Amino acid sequence: MIVNILLYIVFSIAAAIYFYFKRKYNYFKDRGIPHIKPKFPMGNLQGIGSTDHIFDVVCDVYNKFKGKGPIIGLYSVTTPIYLITDLELIKKITIGDFNYFINRGGFVNEKEEPLTAHLFTLRDDKWRFIRNKLSAAFSSGKMKAMYFTISDKGRDYVELVSKAVTKTKSIDIKELTNRFTIDIVSSVAFGMESNTMKYQHPELVNIFHEIFDPDATLFQKFFIMASFPRIAKALKLRFFSKQISDFFMNVVGSNIESREKLGDNRQDFLNMLIQLKNKGSIDGEFSTETRKISMNDVMAQSFVFFFAGADTSSSTISLTLAELAHHTEVQEKLRTEILEKTKEEKDEISYETLQEMTYLNQVVNEILRMYSSGSILIRQAAKDYKVENTKHIIPKGADVWISMIGIHYDEKYWKNPYKFDPERFTQEEIAKRPNYCYAPFGDGPRACIGMQYALLTVKFGVATIIKNFKVTPNSKMKYPIKLNPKATNLEPIGGYQLDFEKV
Ligand code: HEM
Repeated sequence: MIVNILLYIVFSIAAAIYFYFKRKYNYFKDRGIPHIKPKFPMGNLQGIGSTDHIFDVVCDVYNKFKGKGPIIGLYSVTTPIYLITDLELIKKITIGDFNYFINRGGFVNEKEEPLTAHLFTLRDDKWRFIRNKLSAAFSSGKMKAMYFTISDKGRDYVELVSKAVTKTKSIDIKELTNRFTIDIVSSVAFGMESNTMKYQHPELVNIFHEIFDPDATLFQKFFIMASFPRIAKALKLRFFSKQISDFFMNVVGSNIESREKLGDNRQDFLNMLIQLKNKGSIDGEFSTETRKISMNDVMAQSFVFFFAGADTSSSTISLTLAELAHHTEVQEKLRTEILEKTKEEKDEISYETLQEMTYLNQVVNEILRMYSSGSILIRQAAKDYKVENTKHIIPKGADVWISMIGIHYDEKYWKNPYKFDPERFTQEEIAKRPNYCYAPFGDGPRACIGMQYALLTVKFGVATIIKNFKVTPNSKMKYPIKLNPKATNLEPIGGYQLDFEKV
């Protein structure tokens, strides 16, 4: 009798789960949207984190369905995702009909965890308010003024690599470049000379690893907590560990206090945030809006520099060096340009000189085509959205992904797309392509606010290394580069091991 009851319960639960998933997995079929058959229980994300990198999965789906309509259906576990592949629709979602897609989703718990209320995840009016305030801090004039926070770290970067090279030719360049970008970000955004290139500063380097290492769970948390925010808040789940939060809140808090006491007027990001907190506007920038930002806003926005800027910049520099190691002719041409442009400057590379390096610009653009940290742009529908010239409606609350990774490798726009070829980015070649087939920093009002600063960091980092070192392949690093499926960032299988020799 008891056995029968137990069997009945087990059968009922199994049947309920089966029908629940079946109903969920019929979502795109019912709407006549092309999609890949999902598999229980991960939907179309099977293998991500173990055998496949998310960018490869999305690129495969794109290739399979491109040309079959502007939208492809994808399931993240049971959540339907509208994957956009059509350039005109991308333009509308990111720019023309932006009001329908103002938010990105993501977990925000401003009260309990102030660091989560940063620009990347903020929503609606709060996002508009903060974005508007911060835009002044990222103007071209401010970028030029903040260039010293980057160039100041050049000598330490060269010394760090030189020291490593005296011990062994073979270096994990990403590990060293992380320290270069950590030192830049902590100086510009936290007002802290962390000196991780000169001395070991385990705390900040450890925090970096805790967030960005392939086995870090932060990005999985990003999707799970964003999908179930009420449960996450009820269970008092934290997005960042207490150690991370305490570190940033204490460091930034005490630096603000001492700057306010001493009247420090360095031209950096932290000081601009302090001005926004104290008077609602930034020195020298016109603004009609005088509302001030709060102390917690300052903390979260200085933290986003680290969160969104440190690993993205250091991966881009390291990937550039990896491709240059495998393309000696490109490396030589680039070194010739760098030496030629800097012959009047001793050890330094000035802001103006960096802008004149057109071939460097081409090289970095090509790297960002092949490997952008933001290869999938994320949006959430704020209201029902009728897709023009189709019968489809993207409903309010639906998740929308834009497959830049698929577009960046589409032969329709890029001949021989798997080949590293900076010649694609001459003015003549750019003019031959449609505008929206290249967007490594996203597009529209929600595009990367740190783009100019990131490009300065990346170009300065690459130019500094190529000016001083010859880079060659090392057998430990696999080539062509294949992304580590366990990583959510741009980590190649086998790491970033390369050989360096002083020039
Ligand atoms: C090579 C380095 C970088 C790459 C490839 C990159 C790429 C991106 C991409 C693709 C997005 C999403 C855009 C969209 O959805 O349309 C984004 C957003 C963002 N990035 Fe970057 N980024 C880089 C560096 C930085 C740096 C240095 C900062 C420093 C402040 C930064 C801050 C942000 C912020 C705050 C957002 C969210 C903007 C908003 O929602 O208003 N990023 N980035």
